[in-house]
Amino acid sequence: MFNTISMIGLGYIGLPTATLFASRNKNVIGVDINKLAVDTINEGRIHIVEPELDIMVHAAVTAGYLRATTKPEPADAFLIAVPTPFTDGKKPDLSYVEAAGRAVAPVLSKGNLVILESTSPVGTTEKLAQWLADARPDLTFPQQAGESADIQIAYCPERVLPGRVVHELVSNDRIIGGMTCAATAMATELYKIFVEGALIATNAHTAEMCKLTENSFRDVNIAFANELSLICDKLGIDVWELIRLANHHPRVNILQPGCGVGGHCIAVDPWFIVDSAPEEARLIRTAREVNDSKPHWIVEKVEEAIAALSANGVSKADLRIACLGLAFKPDIDDLRESPALEITEALARKYPGQVIAVEPNVEVIPKKLSEFGVELVSPEQARMAANVLVLLVDHAEFRDASISVSSAQKLVDTKGIWRLGSVL
Ligand SMILES: NC(=O)c1ccc[n+]([C@@H]2O[C@H](COP(=O)([O-])OP(=O)(O)OC[C@H]3O[C@@H](n4cnc5c(N)ncnc54)[C@H](O)[C@@H]3O)[C@@H](O)[C@H]2O)c1
Repeated sequence: MFNTISMIGLGYIGLPTATLFASRNKNVIGVDINKLAVDTINEGRIHIVEPELDIMVHAAVTAGYLRATTKPEPADAFLIAVPTPFTDGKKPDLSYVEAAGRAVAPVLSKGNLVILESTSPVGTTEKLAQWLADARPDLTFPQQAGESADIQIAYCPERVLPGRVVHELVSNDRIIGGMTCAATAMATELYKIFVEGALIATNAHTAEMCKLTENSFRDVNIAFANELSLICDKLGIDVWELIRLANHHPRVNILQPGCGVGGHCIAVDPWFIVDSAPEEARLIRTAREVNDSKPHWIVEKVEEAIAALSANGVSKADLRIACLGLAFKPDIDDLRESPALEITEALARKYPGQVIAVEPNVEVIPKKLSEFGVELVSPEQARMAANVLVLLVDHAEFRDASISVSSAQKLVDTKGIWRLGSVL
């Protein structure tokens, strides 16, 4: 049924997915508007960081099962995994999905399956179906012809963890939400080519909402921990100890607070629900606000530490602030939407030339920091040079370290790993 499969968007989701189909000896045409990415893939190399993927892409391209291009070509199935960011007003930006749909429309033919994988607000699959129908009045679509439509369309979200994408694409359970039963059945057949997890049938709306719900669940739970950290600070209670004790309850499992929530999924997707149901999504909106406000609260804590040093006679000119960790979560190099980066930038703007950073997972400091004089240093250099140490991300290098902080230094530990012995 599926001899040729086309993947539209060859990023963190699309390229591993395309490569897995190719590894099962399917002819895969990868499409991306980024010519550099297309050229790199056609050379058997990759333009993103993901373990195991480079070897797999090289093998698939060499064997002739995977090739990339900038323009869609005819295929049996099309999968779309393009970005779905939000606008400044926290509204979903579907322009990439629309552009991908309009690019695919001219090469569609009767019997094709189109799957949207991009994380999307409820109703986006229907919008895609309408964009396709507008462009191809000679074909029928599910909203017009239901089960007997010429083109079947489904929504199948992705729930992989960066760094484990190749493994999780194969082993995770997958939600298959067709606009029709025929679409669900076709999409199930397609994913069976490489997915070993369960393929669970539902409709497109529920599948769209399922992905958003998963990330909102995480966001709300992290917000609870972050809110507790503010309350405990006010009441003079060690939040880490509190959570450790509360989690001894057999039905309580509180997450750990931190400096905020980052990345391009958990910090974005809940807004898609808020946008669809602003009156009803009160808890989800508040969770976003709690998590988004945490970096500002951390900056205030650093200011308090600076005020305490100044009361002890440290002049403003002698102030050195070390920010430890810039990534949006531990042990990765991804700085996108990172609250740690946001905090470091806020401090660097306020204290230009007086902020240093430790980030073991990157080699180059982002421009938005370097322009305020922030330099990357080693943990030991940070400990020697700084009088305020701000632990932002619990990278392994910090978790495992053990160097004491002197009495002339202040420590702001947002992850609770050094709170007792003040160690670095
Ligand atoms: N990365 C993840 O861990 C993850 C997990 C679950 C869901 N998602 C969702 O999957 C979708 C894709 O995410 P990603 O991380 O792969 O993004 P990405 O930015 O890594 O890749 C997207 C690719 O699409 C390409 N593109 C943009 N417009 C195009 C068009 N009109 N035609 C062809 N290619 C086009 C871009 O050049 C880019 O290479 C998003 O909706 C994201 O929210 C991502």
